[in-house]
Amino acid sequence: MTETEPLFHGRTFDDFLFTPQRSPVLTRREVDLSMPLAAGLTAGLPVIGANMDTVMGEEMAKTLALEGAFGFLHRSRRIEEQAAQIRYVKSRHSYVIERPVLLPRTTTMGEARETIRAHKASGILIEDAPGSGILAGILSHRDMPLRDGSDGRPVTEFMTPAPRIVTRPPTVAMDEAERVMFDHRVEKLPLVDAEGRIRGLITMRDLKLYKQKPESAKDAKGRLRVGAAIGATGDFLERAAALVEEEADAILMDVAHADSEVVEKAMTAFRRALPKAVLVVGNVATADGARRLRDQGADAVKVGVGPGRGCRTRLETGAGVPQLQAIREAWRGVEGKVPIIADGGVRSDKDIFLAVACGASTVMLGSMLSGTDEAPGLVIEDPATGQKLKLYRGMTSPEAVVDAEGGESLVEALSTPPEGQSVRVPYVGSVVAILHRIRGHLRSAVSYAGERDLRTAHAKIASDPARFLIPLSEASRRESFVR
Ligand code: XMP
Repeated sequence: MTETEPLFHGRTFDDFLFTPQRSPVLTRREVDLSMPLAAGLTAGLPVIGANMDTVMGEEMAKTLALEGAFGFLHRSRRIEEQAAQIRYVKSRHSYVIERPVLLPRTTTMGEARETIRAHKASGILIEDAPGSGILAGILSHRDMPLRDGSDGRPVTEFMTPAPRIVTRPPTVAMDEAERVMFDHRVEKLPLVDAEGRIRGLITMRDLKLYKQKPESAKDAKGRLRVGAAIGATGDFLERAAALVEEEADAILMDVAHADSEVVEKAMTAFRRALPKAVLVVGNVATADGARRLRDQGADAVKVGVGPGRGCRTRLETGAGVPQLQAIREAWRGVEGKVPIIADGGVRSDKDIFLAVACGASTVMLGSMLSGTDEAPGLVIEDPATGQKLKLYRGMTSPEAVVDAEGGESLVEALSTPPEGQSVRVPYVGSVVAILHRIRGHLRSAVSYAGERDLRTAHAKIASDPARFLIPLSEASRRESFVR
């Protein structure tokens, strides 16, 4: 059993400041914030959207990835719906369209115009026989006569035929694709395999969009990264297989109390069925719990019992560990072998830095992201004050349990008294602005910590916290945080 360090016993975020160090930073923009998210995965910004129904939908997942952060889609929906959400995120902003729309060469110009309009495309690929996938030509806007009267004629009269089209194999690198398109002054580059079959399409427009966001979280195929949550009972393996089939970048096995026999069995079954998938498991709040998850094969361990804003576990059961103590113990428990995700209780940007400085690699946020445009749910206006608000609720709040689909039956779910609650949070506009603020404050904190990047600040402070952290008295806490 790992002993708790006295410095952290009973402590959480507002209990510490850290001493400023001489800074080597010339401009804060140069400060690198990337941190490991799980074995084999890095986050450009160490922020993870919580898998909750008032935080995470496909728009939030997409925006977080575009900004270099990461999100886990929640599991309170049917398996097909969760899988479709991954497909959606993965098909946005990739520079390769993996399954472009195809029309056969027998298509008329009228039908082609209709399809182009429906897909808001600037042109369309034509295949030989329907379903063959063999490239026959491209019909782009400039091939289409402006005057009418052509609607009944076949596309083959207007398209650029295959022999005159520049193509490349599906393995083409982004730089080469860009150069080829520029050299030949073309807007579209079909990717074709050795048999002449269409395997993808690169457009100049997508390429430009993609290059505007170099910091976004992308997989090896240039698609946005996204994760998805599963449970540890019922159809969890079937769900996991469907999510992995859609190429989710990480699977989160998420239960309130993961230091349990149920989770141990579920992890064994998961690893047997899906040995290669990136598996994050939580939540635990002790060194032994974190070590056990590591030893059972977790690629990252999620930490936090009861600190969340929508959470009533500590109030109702008395179980929990103050969050900074829990982070610290988990970090010591896993001995740096797998990353720690600090989950819950973050109320301000400085909490994120403290969590990372004390041992976490990334931080999961619920309420802090929930008042944004990208979070599911409507903006409501308080009739008394005129203040704009959104709803945020714990996933075991009665409201969330009633709305959940695809997991336990409602009767089963309602048979356990709730350990979650709903709150209203201020509406704050786009999550992009929140992430921009977090990024700025984290870069500042790294500079105050005397380092150029977050990884080094994390390694330095976590290995010797007593040198850098100042436990606060009631008076110094007031001086620091009360305004
Ligand atoms: P914050 O503080 O960021 O916390 O809003 C987000 C985390 O809260 C956890 N969570 C719950 N905990 N009952 C709980 O005990 C619940 O109903 C509940 N819903 C969410 C979860 O770990 C999330 O990431």
